[in-house]
Amino acid sequence: KTHQDKNKILAGKKVLISAGPTREQIDPVRFFTNHSSGKMGFALAEAAADLGAEVTLVAGPTDMELVNKQIKRINITTAEEMYHAMHHNFLTSDIVIKAAAVADYRPKQVYEEKMKKQDGVWKIEMERTKDILQSLGEAKTGQFLVGFAAETENALEYGMKKLQKKRLDAVVINDVSTAGAGFGGDTNIATYLNKHMEKEEIALSSKRDMADKIMMLIDRDMKDESK
Ligand code: CTP
Ligand code: CA
Repeated sequence: KTHQDKNKILAGKKVLISAGPTREQIDPVRFFTNHSSGKMGFALAEAAADLGAEVTLVAGPTDMELVNKQIKRINITTAEEMYHAMHHNFLTSDIVIKAAAVADYRPKQVYEEKMKKQDGVWKIEMERTKDILQSLGEAKTGQFLVGFAAETENALEYGMKKLQKKRLDAVVINDVSTAGAGFGGDTNIATYLNKHMEKEEIALSSKRDMADKIMMLIDRDMKDESK
């Protein structure tokens, strides 16, 4: 083995990652979305591929592009489309990471024609989208399932609750109110928490460095479990 091959610790592993926002249509010219840039999920895809994994990336609308051409990219728009793309690839995957910022609500009614402006208030009724990560947790057959938690307060407590409720193997908790963390930026600060409640603080780093650390922690935890 060459030096490079020895670093391919994820060779033979299939990794499924979701990234970016989802976009929920109101009418042909309007939609709801959020501030996700897709950078963290794309960094994870590159990191996993560089470690030798076979990577599928389910991406919401973003300007991001992949460097590693071996990564399979599936573009989706809505939470419903992301749900189907993730489940379609879930059972054949070894590691599944949900870095996407899925819209929690979508307009109950989608207008086929552009809504014309009118006097007064426009009330839009919103309904819940499916919780994709939770549904994956329920469908688990041995996949190592990782979620993200974006919080502005009580980050560790809320993150721990998401880990348990969604039956995750690990959660990456971001306090998005902290400077240098979360949406849009090139850096992030996070806590990696596994289901044994072992915590790893990941100090301010580029999203790519953070992605490398997260992949190493996942590999460590998977090896611990197969012992
Ligand atoms: N998630 C998902 N499907 C949804 C909403 C969230 O798969 N409809 C996933 C995200 O991709 C992320 C994790 O769940 O990995 C946590 O997302 P987050 O928005 O932090 O938590 P929610 O469970 O949506 O709860 P809330 O927004 O109320 O904090
Ligand atoms: Ca949410």
